[in-house]
Amino acid sequence: MRVLAIETSCDDTAAAVIDATGVRSSIVASQDLVHGPYGGVVPELASRQHVLAILPVIERALATAAITLADVEAVAATHGPGLVGSLLVGLQVAKGIALERGLPFIGINHLEGHLLAIFLEREIEFPYLGLLVSGGHTSLYVVEDLGRYRLLGRTRDDAAGEAFDKGAKMLGLGYPGGREIDRCASAGDRAAVHFPRATLKSGGYDFSFSGVKTALRQYLLEERGAPLADVCASFQEAIVDMLAAPTLRAAHDLGLETVVISGGVSANRRLRARMEEEGARAGLTVLFPRFAYCTDNAAMIGYAGRARLLRGERHPLTLNAAATAPIGLPDTLPHAAEAGHA
Ligand code: KG4
Ligand code: ZN
Repeated sequence: MRVLAIETSCDDTAAAVIDATGVRSSIVASQDLVHGPYGGVVPELASRQHVLAILPVIERALATAAITLADVEAVAATHGPGLVGSLLVGLQVAKGIALERGLPFIGINHLEGHLLAIFLEREIEFPYLGLLVSGGHTSLYVVEDLGRYRLLGRTRDDAAGEAFDKGAKMLGLGYPGGREIDRCASAGDRAAVHFPRATLKSGGYDFSFSGVKTALRQYLLEERGAPLADVCASFQEAIVDMLAAPTLRAAHDLGLETVVISGGVSANRRLRARMEEEGARAGLTVLFPRFAYCTDNAAMIGYAGRARLLRGERHPLTLNAAATAPIGLPDTLPHAAEAGHA
């Protein structure tokens, strides 16, 4: 089944063609230049930009796959979670194509797309531990099967990507902040500044990133003057520590041997190096999708969409966009306790 997939949940306009042979094309039009001057995504500008970009992006995805709309057999689009104005653009275009051509349509959860992105490159066995780290989410799931995601823990406040973005803004770096901090940190001393690591008092798997963000603000107010690269490296190290510790602990506690890290923050080079190193020491296989499939893309939506369509799932064209759309099955574990700051 040849699927056209569309993703417009935030600030990237993306389309992809997926078939039995894999990814035939994956096109992403970034809006970084539009939002850069504001240091974060401006929702109204994002939806307007999607309106301008969506048709050319779809045309390029079809052309790169060397097909036309007549060759498309089904349509998948992200329906949530995300910015509703942004989601609506991709979703409406997808539904329009499905209606006009009489094709099956399916709406896909953006988080499911990230959690399954690894399958774009390799087959892996269920269950695995999925750490989803993006601009809006930091959550840990047991991925039991396609459509079965048990939520183990999530951030109590900011997402890791949000902490990177807000931190970068404070440091006068560009947008998206995580990428800029990653770049700047490579020449820095990770031990130059000690930023606090949030700790969970009762051994759950929740995360907290607001403390480290406040600590950075305080550090900058005090003008203690460490070189920018050192501040970036130290700030990044604190975030990486706070992502790695609960993830490795959960893998150990639940006896899961494979950890898959996805979402925009999984492009972070230090997170990748640390998780690979510590995972190997703990006897775990730690996997990351390639960079292009870590950040937002439509190929991952195409993978999830095609898998569900092949199971016979369809959505009616009345499917609406949803700002929040949790995917986790009820957490059967004792819930994580208050986050404290060490
Ligand atoms: O998954 P994504 O592309 O969009 C959302 O669904 O949110 O994630 C975007 C987030 C942003 O917060 C951005 O700063 C972060 O991913 N990011 C990074 C890196 N590249 C992107 N964070 C840390 N290191 C990176 N190299
Ligand atoms: Zn995302």
